[in-house]
Amino acid sequence: MNKKLWSGLFTQPVDEGVAAYTASVHFDHRLWEVDIQGSLAHAHMLAQQGLLSPEELKQIQHGLEIVGQEIRQGEFTWRIELEDIHSNIEARLIELIGYSGKKLHTGRSRNDQVATDMRLWLVKELTHIQQLLRYLQLALVELARSHTETLMPGYTHLQVAQPISFAHHLLAYVEMFKRDEQRMQEIKARTNTLPLGSAALAGTSYPLDRKLVAQLLGMVDEEGGEQICQNSLDAVSDRDFIIEFCAAAGLCMVHISRFSEELVLWLNQNFAFIRLADKYVTGSSIMPQKKNPDVPELARGKTGRVVGHLMAMFTLMKAQPLAYNKDNQEDKEALFDTVDTLTTTLSIFGNLVKDGVSVNAHNMLEALRQGYPTATDLADYLVRKGIPFKDAHESVAKVVKLALEKGCGLEQLALPELQAIDGNIGSDVDEVLDLVSALKRRNSLGGTAPEQVKRQIEEHLFRLLA
Ligand code: ARG
Repeated sequence: MNKKLWSGLFTQPVDEGVAAYTASVHFDHRLWEVDIQGSLAHAHMLAQQGLLSPEELKQIQHGLEIVGQEIRQGEFTWRIELEDIHSNIEARLIELIGYSGKKLHTGRSRNDQVATDMRLWLVKELTHIQQLLRYLQLALVELARSHTETLMPGYTHLQVAQPISFAHHLLAYVEMFKRDEQRMQEIKARTNTLPLGSAALAGTSYPLDRKLVAQLLGMVDEEGGEQICQNSLDAVSDRDFIIEFCAAAGLCMVHISRFSEELVLWLNQNFAFIRLADKYVTGSSIMPQKKNPDVPELARGKTGRVVGHLMAMFTLMKAQPLAYNKDNQEDKEALFDTVDTLTTTLSIFGNLVKDGVSVNAHNMLEALRQGYPTATDLADYLVRKGIPFKDAHESVAKVVKLALEKGCGLEQLALPELQAIDGNIGSDVDEVLDLVSALKRRNSLGGTAPEQVKRQIEEHLFRLLA
């Protein structure tokens, strides 16, 4: 009972430390559902090819159903000496149905089995991640919708540069998450390819029908054509799909992290651009006045570990000879943690944006004013009146100095005050200094003008609600 599956050859039981060191069942049990799914498809195909009798197939199907129930109900006994999820399920199957259970492994190795499981598992998770990304984008677009005219400072070098709308700022993140969603789709399409049928490394002498297995597992392209790994050595050893997923996940977390950094800034008392609903902030054990932005801070921190997993996966692969090596067992915890971190983060951010953010438009406007964001517009206005830019630049510098002294915005200076600095300034300057007009003027494709932003919002909604 305690003997390992291959122990006919062995004269000693495996060292306990070694058994614990090489085991993966304490983390790879998460693959149980896709492992059974793969086994059912393999068994079905074996029967089709005459390698299992219809009766044996029935027994295997029945046995795997019981195993699935036991696992789902928490009644399954995981045995560390059986190393991994694959051997645990198979051993239990044999316990339940006996002889025919032993036939399931015909033409199959754990090497092509685990590669198949990992792909099936990731494909499902990718679909979930895409849904979460769409939910977050929709929440951002919905919030943007009510802020196409809400003025805020646009920054370069984190210094006030030009007026933008809050909606325009939010839509920049929608673009990032849209690309993330596309990347996930591309990775999903490549991941959804079948290794099973490659056996240990070299293929098998059994007449397997890999196309049938691919169809049964939904490993098909958009036209329904089977996607099958074409080289058995590559099939059992390739983990590119994990590496590229970790890269895409890392990049998505970097986008979340940039957004988090801005949330933290906007929540700072000296900005106070937004408030977060109490259910999304946390208190301090010592300072009663505090409401801390722990969620964005943690997301910023967790970005580090996701990027770290990518480095781990690169390093895992870099010196592996063909074909399968046990190194690959190390792909699991990194992948699982990447998926867990990304999905929980995306889901919290979707909710937080949907119902947690309230905007303090007054403070945004004040911060904008204090940065004299229409100074360039005023210089351009003087240039249009025929003044050389150098002189215009000098005049505007004086205007800014006056506004600084008076502690007001450029648009709040009276016309005679402006004319005392530069006689070329006329009453038509109001339009130039008006912040709303300055926003509307930036009406180039992709610009911050409400007309542009509203069009972008319509396009996003059309795409996200389709
Ligand atoms: N638990 C192993 C893994 O995760 C399964 C494959 C083991 N194959 C082998 N020949 N030892 O990679």
